[in-house]
Amino acid sequence: CVIPAAGVAGREITTVEGIGSLSHLHSVQQAFIDEQAAQCGYCLSGMIMMTVSLLAHTPRPDDVQIRQALSGNLCRCGTHLEIIKAVHRSAELMAQARAKAP
Ligand code: FES
Repeated sequence: CVIPAAGVAGREITTVEGIGSLSHLHSVQQAFIDEQAAQCGYCLSGMIMMTVSLLAHTPRPDDVQIRQALSGNLCRCGTHLEIIKAVHRSAELMAQARAKAP
């Protein structure tokens, strides 16, 4: 929301719509549902995409790493604790998926 479109001209952009589908949710999307980490949904796209980015670099983040990664995303509904739980759940689901992969 704070980056002008011209600032990413020529770069690949992935949005929350690009990581899963209704019939096959991304592990992070599923985790946010599992942990009821959304109320109004205003912050959700940013929280989910920052979680995907965090877990790509840090598969098992601790609470401090999660808080740092998501610090630029504000949730006005106050679901921060559920969001942190959802990030941990995301890490679990992604680890399970990696373990099942051939
Ligand atoms: Fe409402 Fe985060 S769920 S701002």
